[in-house]
Amino acid sequence: MTDLRWGILGTGRIAGIFSRGVLASQTGRLAAVGSRAQATADRFAREYRVARAHGSYEALLADPGVQAVYVATPHPHHAEWTMRAAQAGKHVLCEKPLTLNHAQAVTVVEAARAAGVLLMEAFMYRCHPQTARVVELVKSDALGRVGLVQASFGFQREFNPDARLWNRALGGGGILDVGCYPVSFARLIAGAADGQPFADPVSVAGTGYLHPQAGVDVYAAGTLKFANGMVAQVACSIGLVQDSSARLYGSEGWLHVPVPWISTRDGGTSSIFLHRPGASAPEEIAITAPPLYALEADAFAAALAAGWRDVPQMTVADTLGNMAVLDQWRSAVGLVYDLERT
Ligand SMILES: NC(=O)c1ccc[n+]([C@@H]2O[C@H](COP(=O)([O-])OP(=O)(O)OC[C@H]3O[C@@H](n4cnc5c(N)ncnc54)[C@H](OP(=O)(O)O)[C@@H]3O)[C@@H](O)[C@H]2O)c1
Repeated sequence: MTDLRWGILGTGRIAGIFSRGVLASQTGRLAAVGSRAQATADRFAREYRVARAHGSYEALLADPGVQAVYVATPHPHHAEWTMRAAQAGKHVLCEKPLTLNHAQAVTVVEAARAAGVLLMEAFMYRCHPQTARVVELVKSDALGRVGLVQASFGFQREFNPDARLWNRALGGGGILDVGCYPVSFARLIAGAADGQPFADPVSVAGTGYLHPQAGVDVYAAGTLKFANGMVAQVACSIGLVQDSSARLYGSEGWLHVPVPWISTRDGGTSSIFLHRPGASAPEEIAITAPPLYALEADAFAAALAAGWRDVPQMTVADTLGNMAVLDQWRSAVGLVYDLERT
């Protein structure tokens, strides 16, 4: 496989995790990092053995040694830096959600297409063989016809008005941060049931609890109905302890995916469980995989080397469909970001 020279834009928590993934990947090289402060870039470069450290995002984008940029800022900054990277001729892997809303996502996708660069929203779980196995089981009718999907992603964080998750100006709240995963999973499964890469729901209902001071969703639930009859219940939170799992119910059995999102972060084996009526115990299906974020970096590099317009695990059409659902879910919850108020 061909090497790919990455530039890391932003030096927060996930930037470090992804950089470790690049170091563990088959194709990735850490060419450069860009931070708003030179000292932070220097520290990050030392920690992750990055070749060059830039004291601004502009300098990172001007680095001729960088082929692909990984955008790891808070959500409201994704659109600007993804477009600027694309305009600088860099391929872009942008953290989820691609943007704050669907309208922004359309603009960003158009900018990437116009620049002729590859763009992927960083749903790393889509690159994991466990996800591929779940899709395969649905496509092969191992569960019979899947009618109901339940999926959640949530965790408990103390309220902190300055933290990204609780700050409306930084795109805080659960739906955009983690609710995007169960929504993308439900759309993946609804598509797989019909032999398609994804499907978009015909209706979306939702509700949630907004923090009285922060004005962002602390927890939320949604219901998606698809044209093929499939129904999905999705839930997320930033203030509750959740099981963060997925369950698929079919006419012949049901599948439990205990760790659907962050499976084998450092490489290893994960299991999913197929329950059939009358069986004394579920069938355990074990999947061994390399580190999760290395898989993502290699999937991106493989699509680039193949000259594809999209990374097949997460195409931009898929992203746009996901953003549209998140808009509807947020609207049902009553969460409008300041940047969206005109
Ligand atoms: N795929 C995943 O597994 C995963 C996991 C966690 C988060 N994420 C996504 O990754 C993105 C970043 O999340 P994170 O948890 O890494 O955030 P974080 O720890 O707060 O880091 C964000 C970084 O963005 C840069 N930044 C630029 N403008 C900023 C601003 N106005 N305020 C604060 N930071 C700013 C900063 O880097 P510099 O100071 O170096 O400029 C900062 O370190 C989010 O969109 C999130 O949804 C994805």
